[in-house]
Amino acid sequence: MKDSAPDMLAARYAFSDSVVVKNRIFKSAMSEQLGDKNHNPTDKLVTLYRLWAEGDIGISVSGNIMIDRAALSGARDVVLDQHSDLDSFLRWTAAGSENNTHFWAQINHPGKQIISQLCAQPVAPSVVPLSNGLARHFNLPRALTDEEILALIDKFASCAALCKQVGFGGVQIHAAHGYLISQFLSPLHNRRTDRWGGSLQNRMRILVAIYESIRLAVGPDYPVAIKLNSADFQRGGFSETESMEVARMLDDMGVDQIEISGGTYENPVMMGKMKDSTQARESYFFEYAKQIRTQVNTALVVTGGFRSAKGMRACLQSGAADFVGVARALVVDPKFARLVLADTQSGLTLPRDPQGEHMSIAWYESKIRGLTRQAGTSRVSKISKQEGV
Ligand SMILES: Cc1cc2nc3c(=O)[nH]c(=O)nc-3n(C[C@H](O)[C@H](O)[C@H](O)COP(=O)(O)O)c2cc1C
Repeated sequence: MKDSAPDMLAARYAFSDSVVVKNRIFKSAMSEQLGDKNHNPTDKLVTLYRLWAEGDIGISVSGNIMIDRAALSGARDVVLDQHSDLDSFLRWTAAGSENNTHFWAQINHPGKQIISQLCAQPVAPSVVPLSNGLARHFNLPRALTDEEILALIDKFASCAALCKQVGFGGVQIHAAHGYLISQFLSPLHNRRTDRWGGSLQNRMRILVAIYESIRLAVGPDYPVAIKLNSADFQRGGFSETESMEVARMLDDMGVDQIEISGGTYENPVMMGKMKDSTQARESYFFEYAKQIRTQVNTALVVTGGFRSAKGMRACLQSGAADFVGVARALVVDPKFARLVLADTQSGLTLPRDPQGEHMSIAWYESKIRGLTRQAGTSRVSKISKQEGV
């Protein structure tokens, strides 16, 4: 830092006396597809999160961990339940927490956003197919029964309790991007007429129940966070007004942090598929963050679009958010956090394909696998040097 003003990006954040985060850089969840065939973390996952921890991230969130083995969003997802190998999770959390990094778990159920090869009949709030040409790749879901909904709430809670047991510093409930909880929130996807559908109060009932049962399972001092859509960006879908009401309710209930994103598989605005002026501003959901800041007291993270030290500091200085969420820049450069902390003029550009479009999720997943090899190689070459080989 060359400036004499205090650097907001480097400022600590205290959730409580015992939960203090060293800076405001938040690594957002990225599905790594590095679970083994039993959906336990592999050594590659351990290596990857050590690499990220070495890079000075304040809070590092895992890729989505599934709460139910019968509902995977990717073939190599990690699952955490009573059948998991807890030792492999302990190794993962130890590596991800190095360098005083807060390593949190994102926990998720994909609902109907499961490609057809992985599940013949996924579950969802209602029998509504995915639109926008996706119905070809995603099987029609069946509607969950009341009993099944209650069982899923319990699964979220027992998964969160295991997260605490294996050493994650907090949990984040994935309620964004069109997965199960987000399907319940959306009037377009949730057509139920029972206590889980209809009014916003009913549509958010599952999220409220999941939060409450997790809180009971992990106790009052353990960070419990939520990733929430600012909106689904679909006609008739979950709107900004509704999102704000949900956020207010969660704030009243004592949620420790809300991460703001937006979009679904049907309209993936979280990856920057939006109008140029929004992209140019660097933070896709900044305007919404500014509004929600006036409504809630809980810690806020805004994610999507950050590429430079300047953009990240401007967002924090505006007061709109307490943390800046970064995903793809940390794949392009796993030391991106260190870079922007050290140099106020630093930044990077994400690679684009020949048509100027963002590279796909599959492209980033393969880059993530590349990072595990890169990290492995540098370690080997260091050892070789020490040994004079
Ligand atoms: C490879 C990849 C996997 C992702 N997986 C998840 C995930 O598991 N959970 C989640 O909430 N978001 C996921 N995302 C979305 C990111 O967390 C983030 O919201 C999005 O990439 C926008 O931030 P960025 O512009 O900094 O990349 C993923 C993104 C990428 C590129």
